[in-house]
Amino acid sequence: MQDTATPAASTESRILYLNPEMAIFKSSTRTIPETAAVPRHIAIIMDGNGRWARKRLMPRVMGHQRGVETVREVVKACRQKGVEYLTLFAFSSENWRRPADEVSFLMQLFLKMLEREVSKLHENNIRLKIIGDRSRFDAPLVQHIEEAERLTAANSGLTLTIAANYGGRWDIMQAMHALSQAHPERATAFGEEELTPYLSMHYAPEPDLFIRTGGEQRISNFLLWQLAYTELYFTDTLWPAFDRKALEEAIQSYQKRERRFGRTSEQLKGSEDA
Ligand code: IPE
Ligand code: IPE
Ligand code: MG
Repeated sequence: MQDTATPAASTESRILYLNPEMAIFKSSTRTIPETAAVPRHIAIIMDGNGRWARKRLMPRVMGHQRGVETVREVVKACRQKGVEYLTLFAFSSENWRRPADEVSFLMQLFLKMLEREVSKLHENNIRLKIIGDRSRFDAPLVQHIEEAERLTAANSGLTLTIAANYGGRWDIMQAMHALSQAHPERATAFGEEELTPYLSMHYAPEPDLFIRTGGEQRISNFLLWQLAYTELYFTDTLWPAFDRKALEEAIQSYQKRERRFGRTSEQLKGSEDA
């Protein structure tokens, strides 16, 4: 499994699209992933839990409860399809603004998920990663996160990343801070490639496909840096109702796209010199 998102050198990327059969298809803005294939990395904003519950005259939190079942189903489907990285936005840095009882329900649900599901993930060779600012989590939650990551670290199947208390702006700022700490002698003049190893998802290629359920068409401070050239897919389906078929529709939509990364369509088809 590819474990880093190191972008290819520019000369390599030139060769990649001129000789597609030689291509090492990586997700980055420098190389061209094969869209006909299953996306290597899918990132999802799981939205619409509250509305799903309200439509059924239930408290919002019942939607979060039901959403966990969708997570199980989507993880299973991704494993079976050979998706290498699945990244789920579970709690944003802005979600603390919600009513205290909803926030506390979500934190408890996260802890319960870790307690109940991690051994199953491990049995299925899934590597679990949690990204986000852990400083606001209480000690037992942090301990479970660390244990879950340690237990599953060597697994070679799907890498499942849960973004919890995550914000794209926070991520860029913490990476910038870490980079400048590592090079105190250099005040400025850092390159883009130098920042990527410090971002939370340094271990994964950039997402090929982004899905947002629940009808809103926005990024809501998810992976701002990494989504630069990701194919975006929005669906009105509320997260608790998102199933394998809905996932397949999103993947089919992705497979019809032409990813150009700034190039022309003719260049991609090899009918024109670079
Ligand atoms: C997404 O569902 C889950 C979280 C943000 C934790 P919402 O709770 O945002 O559901 P809606 O958007 O209010 O329906
Ligand atoms: C985005 O959903 C965050 C998660 C799904 C965790 P929100 O429901 O918080 O997003 P906004 O507030 O509608 O943009
Ligand atoms: Mg929402």
